[in-house]
Amino acid sequence: MCGIVGYIGENVEKILLEGLSILEYRGYDSAGIAVLRNGKIELNKRVGKVEVLKQSVKDKKKFGIGIAHTRWATHGKVCIENAHPQFSRGGDIAIVHNGIIENYDILKANLIKDGVRFSGDTDSEVIAKLFEDKLNLKSLKVVLQKLEGSYALVLLSKYQNKLYFAKNKSPLYVAVENGRAMVASDPSCFVNFSKKYFDISDGEYGFIDKNSINVYNKGIKVEKTSKSINFKFSSQKMDGYSHYMIKEIYQCKDALNNIIQNYNLKNIQSILEHIKNCNINRIYIIGCGTAYHAGLIGKNYLKNQTNFEVNCELASEFIYQNNLIDDKSLCIFISQSGETADTISALKYCQKHNSITLSITNVEYSTLAKQSRFVLPIFAEQERAVASTKAYFAQVLVLYILSKVLAKKEYITTLKKFQKDLSFNSDDIIIKLSKIISLKDQLFFIGRGIDYITCQEGALKLKEVSYINCQAMPSGELKHGTLALIDNKSLVITIITDKKLLKKSINNACEIKSRGGKLILFTCFKISLDFKNVFDYIVKIKPTLDEFMCLQSIIPLQKLAYFTALQKGNNPDMPRNLAKSVTVE
Ligand code: AGP
Repeated sequence: MCGIVGYIGENVEKILLEGLSILEYRGYDSAGIAVLRNGKIELNKRVGKVEVLKQSVKDKKKFGIGIAHTRWATHGKVCIENAHPQFSRGGDIAIVHNGIIENYDILKANLIKDGVRFSGDTDSEVIAKLFEDKLNLKSLKVVLQKLEGSYALVLLSKYQNKLYFAKNKSPLYVAVENGRAMVASDPSCFVNFSKKYFDISDGEYGFIDKNSINVYNKGIKVEKTSKSINFKFSSQKMDGYSHYMIKEIYQCKDALNNIIQNYNLKNIQSILEHIKNCNINRIYIIGCGTAYHAGLIGKNYLKNQTNFEVNCELASEFIYQNNLIDDKSLCIFISQSGETADTISALKYCQKHNSITLSITNVEYSTLAKQSRFVLPIFAEQERAVASTKAYFAQVLVLYILSKVLAKKEYITTLKKFQKDLSFNSDDIIIKLSKIISLKDQLFFIGRGIDYITCQEGALKLKEVSYINCQAMPSGELKHGTLALIDNKSLVITIITDKKLLKKSINNACEIKSRGGKLILFTCFKISLDFKNVFDYIVKIKPTLDEFMCLQSIIPLQKLAYFTALQKGNNPDMPRNLAKSVTVE
């Protein structure tokens, strides 16, 4: 994963560090910066978040050329030696890398045989050490030919006022304007700098100086067309909230409003119309983590509304199975970032089978969006907290709309009804529960039907930010094994929002109660006095249309995860070991 940025211009340190803050969603294990000034490369690397690096860098406010990196460790532990930039054999070239070099072990063994010494154990250092100290298009091409795997690279030489770059499978963008140039993993780094940018494609490499961009592919110069920066980035301000996660939970409301507004517009309706007119025989929904959970809800919607065979698959498993896919299969890829490597691999696999590809994503310029035949935006605006909240909410809404469109039914009236019913629960009971939960090492979530999917998403959210082991399971499955774990120390969250399943779900709760377990119930129903004592705590969820109860009930669970993280002293926006965008398989 990792975020990389390079810059030529005034205030080089300030701009590079601002770039790193924007890219920190890609990883925050360590960060580093290298700036060329007066023929010397000044290096500064720190273990920890970009903020730690920022504290140690003095902004010289002068013209300079520099590169910077924020790391999510793949190969090699988190330490200064493994932080980027990494240096060539003689130390004259500094490089930053995002991606994974799959044949790094063989390359490294050969270099060691030749007497090259390594200071760390990353695959990225191997790229750097493949360079003697000459950096030009020829030496870059020679090194690239040796690499197998994914990379976005930016290289800085002691002897040139240029930055070299190369890309294969990891994102890379360039902008050049008014004597300043920038290269980065995400065009959001360019917002205060340029109105247009260039999208570097796989196999391309080249260099930028302060006035020009020069791109090559297999030795031939490529003419690039610029793209406009017309996407919206949500404000970096907290607007009174303590963290992005809680701000983004409340922005579910904005996502709903945006979807109602935009899915009423002609351009989106025309995309939906095109999808509807495709000759479809079966549907696959594919995603990872939270996006996969949104897909499971989508599968439910599609099965309820249409007669298609619908499958929902984990992207990381999908390409290794035998799938029945052809040109009549609609393959839907769900991804907030649009950069998840497993989901992109699944897309490529489906393209090989000539299927109809549709991405549901929050990032219009993402790899997934660029490579899919159809794109349905979720209009959630930028999501910064690693734990996905408003994007999940918006993905589910778009899948709801899609199911209605494929069933040739109207969808705005029901969405408007939900707009009126959407509720965020009071914090008091949630904070009280978060205090109890924060003392536990493990927690169970049980539910039936769609509530089981909400349990899976609630459990993922809670474990992600609280580091408590949370297990979600269908209530009916408990007695087939997991009940053995229940004793008087157990705490179980149960969700009941489906009237048909109320009785059976209460029975399952009783099975836990009889074994001494404690129960927290999230429900939209009034629980009769006979059963009230089964539950130790009851959180009331405001009722709405059945199809949206899964969204009404996820909000208190997202808040529960947030407040539990706070109780445990964790930073909910940047949980340990994780990154917002998972760009490696
Ligand atoms: C969500 O809270 C997680 N951080 C994670 O599961 C995420 O949903 C998953 O990595 C997929 O990301 P994407 O939506 O950007 O593809």
